[in-house]
Amino acid sequence: MTNRDQELRQKAKETIKRYERLVERDPYRLVYHLMPPVGLLNDPNGFIDWDGTYHLFYQWHPFEAAHGPKFWGHFVSGDLVFWEEKEPALTPSDWFDKNGCYSGSAVADNGKLKLFYTGNVKNENDERESYQCVAESEDGLTFTKKGVILHVPDGYTAHFRDPKVWKRDGIWYLVIGAQTKQIDGHVLLFRSDDLKEWQFAGIVTGSNVRSMGDFGYMWECPDLFHLDGEDVLLVSPQGLEKQGYLYHNVHNTGYFIGRLDYETGELVHGPFKELDRGFEFYAPQTTIDRYGRRILFGWMGVPDQGEEKHPTVKHQWIHAMTLPRELKLVDGKIYQRPVEELKQLRKNEVSRPSVKISEHPQRFEEISGEAFELLLDVEENQAEVFELTIRDNVRVIFNRGLKRLTLERVSFVDGLTESRHCELAELSSLHLYVDTSAVELFVNEGEEVFTARYFADPANRSIQFKTLHGSLTASLKKWALDSIMKK
Ligand code: FRU
Repeated sequence: MTNRDQELRQKAKETIKRYERLVERDPYRLVYHLMPPVGLLNDPNGFIDWDGTYHLFYQWHPFEAAHGPKFWGHFVSGDLVFWEEKEPALTPSDWFDKNGCYSGSAVADNGKLKLFYTGNVKNENDERESYQCVAESEDGLTFTKKGVILHVPDGYTAHFRDPKVWKRDGIWYLVIGAQTKQIDGHVLLFRSDDLKEWQFAGIVTGSNVRSMGDFGYMWECPDLFHLDGEDVLLVSPQGLEKQGYLYHNVHNTGYFIGRLDYETGELVHGPFKELDRGFEFYAPQTTIDRYGRRILFGWMGVPDQGEEKHPTVKHQWIHAMTLPRELKLVDGKIYQRPVEELKQLRKNEVSRPSVKISEHPQRFEEISGEAFELLLDVEENQAEVFELTIRDNVRVIFNRGLKRLTLERVSFVDGLTESRHCELAELSSLHLYVDTSAVELFVNEGEEVFTARYFADPANRSIQFKTLHGSLTASLKKWALDSIMKK
């Protein structure tokens, strides 16, 4: 451990101590979502199921509720449900990462846990440099940096980051986000026999690559994996224009399905599909776990999207992770579902079978709360419009005539109503995870997902149902949910 590393760790500890009370007094602290103890959290990093423990690292700036030189924070869990916060894995303490240990991934190799990440550097002329680096650990808790393994290739700018590494048939592969000198976002593939020497394999895909038109100026956080017989590239391109209901956030995340040629690096793929239709979702990362499931965590935030107006900033923290979600490919589309294990958090079940919802706004006894799970199974829908309003802030609207599902909320920036939509032919179920200031909505068993933060009056616990033009019959189940943090 270098002196600089020790200093930064010490300063982070002191910052946690200093603001502990202020953070805890925030009514918007979440109950069952992972959050930073203080400061800013962004991307999930190094997600892996290693030696019987799930490790989830994250981009962390401890010193301010704003972006700055990033650490890798570290959560561990035996079961994907209950988590414990460990010492940070990486601090921005070396010449090659002094302005941030940026995003990356983890692999298991020879009994060691290895982290691949981007060292972000601002040089003396205030220009960006980026270095792909590795750190390793024998116990999964303390990591030793091993330095730089990969430099920016010719033709690309210093926007070169977020390595995701995996092994296939005895060979290591790495995908990384890159920007060409013409300012097009790309994903590049590299290969290695030993995780040290890396050869360029080819361009996976990108803006103005092959049949792709203009598609953004930088592609961040690529993840490439096999899912149900197909190759999937998950990526967060920056600079997409709004298109109908698509790409309404400042930056957006989606995926391509296709076939990767491991020799040429080319992914022959279909169209880009947006992964989450809500307001806050970005830079997700997946891993394959002990049961062979493909599990995803996303960041419940978007860079440059009203961060300074966020109501939690005055309590010295900002942002959180989504719940862990299992991915499945169904008819060429990724379905996302909260992992089964989360049922362990359920308590105080309330069940209301076959309730008829009509044009009169209705509330149901005990169907209310601030940190709960709600399942609504539609039995019969004759209504033109169905609306579910949560804590007088978030509204889910299904318009059967327009075949459209909407998530509406009161904006935390200007107090006005804002909405996100997707096309939806039929509504069969809504599965809602509502936390004190976050909502994750899984529609029709994960066919569509909407993620959002919201900031309601903390005393408001109401859930209200109504329809327009006709009624809807549904079964309701609700559970209060327990906290996930182990002290
Ligand atoms: C995505 C991102 C990554 C980068 C990290 C820095 O949110 O911009 O590209 O590595 O955040 O925190």
